[in-house]
Amino acid sequence: MRAAVHTNFGPPDVVQVVEKPVPPVRPGDVLIKVHATTVTSAECAMRRGEPLWGRVILGLRRPRTRLRTLGLEVSGTVDEVGADVTEFSPGDEVFGFTGFSVGAHADYVRLPATASLSLKPSSLTFVEAAAAVDGATTALFFLRDKAKVRPGQHVLINGASGSIGTYAVQLAKHFGATVTAVCGPSNVDLVRSLGADHVIDYTCGDFTSGVGRYDVVFDTVTKSSFRAARRSLRPGGKYLPTTGLVNNLWALWTLLRGGKRVLVGMSVNKRAALPFISALLESGELRVIVDRTYPLAEIVAAHRHVDAGHKRGNVVVTV
Ligand SMILES: NC(=O)c1ccc[n+]([C@@H]2O[C@H](COP(=O)([O-])OP(=O)(O)OC[C@H]3O[C@@H](n4cnc5c(N)ncnc54)[C@H](OP(=O)(O)O)[C@@H]3O)[C@@H](O)[C@H]2O)c1
Repeated sequence: MRAAVHTNFGPPDVVQVVEKPVPPVRPGDVLIKVHATTVTSAECAMRRGEPLWGRVILGLRRPRTRLRTLGLEVSGTVDEVGADVTEFSPGDEVFGFTGFSVGAHADYVRLPATASLSLKPSSLTFVEAAAAVDGATTALFFLRDKAKVRPGQHVLINGASGSIGTYAVQLAKHFGATVTAVCGPSNVDLVRSLGADHVIDYTCGDFTSGVGRYDVVFDTVTKSSFRAARRSLRPGGKYLPTTGLVNNLWALWTLLRGGKRVLVGMSVNKRAALPFISALLESGELRVIVDRTYPLAEIVAAHRHVDAGHKRGNVVVTV
């Protein structure tokens, strides 16, 4: 089968499409014939070997063998199931998240049947379904599970035009919040079309120095700091960054001190979240924003586009 692999950390052209054997199916496994996958900001950081402390997991000098084929999101058809698998059957159309095993940038990916995998919403194409996993479930994790957003609250989404951001705007509206979206000038119409009540163009002003006060500030792209953003929080407000080692320290500090809180976390096990997301996708309440689609042979160009830091929603790779 074809697989996009990187044997060194570095810029997009460390990725090469090579031939590899199809992974053998073991008891409890599902082999998926990949139809579509995505290139996310998170795996571009993995490709660069960043952050440096992450190399404890990624590999110190070069990527660990099992992490050389990236690909966190997948949609495809179940090709084969191992012994004892009752959840899925060959022919099922599925979508899901490979997590720490990555590997979806290939013709086939093998996952445990217990992985973050679900039947694909029938109204979605494979391209849309591949792009409806990580951003959507991460936004759900932060807004519903961490911040417990309630009707009537005011939520600010920074990075509202990105993968997590486009879902965060829609989910915050679903939970009954008033939403202020922060994005660049070319994405104002997009975030309004997703339901944002107010829009701040970050090239015209920094939300942390504005007059707006929010119950929740969700910085999906971690471009702000808690130090600056806390004055934008109402008493008892919550600041949600998606990355940053220093934010873990703030989370601990604000837990001990009380008052305005920093809440951090990693949305890893997405299995329970997928049926919730599927229902919203099927009903049309949640829209998938696909920026560009590349064939697997052009995956280096997809990495380049994501590395530029200005993708709109999601970048999909068709396999
Ligand atoms: N904690 C977790 O569980 C978890 C899970 C998944 C991902 N993550 C992390 O979350 C982060 C975001 O991922 P993502 O895929 O949603 O990002 P993304 O799609 O790559 O974000 C791109 C968007 O960011 C916007 N942007 C760039 N600079 C900005 C600024 N200064 N202010 C506001 N918006 C700006 C861009 O808009 P313009 O073009 O207008 O600039 C673009 O639309 C990544 O660091 C990833 O590693 C964390």
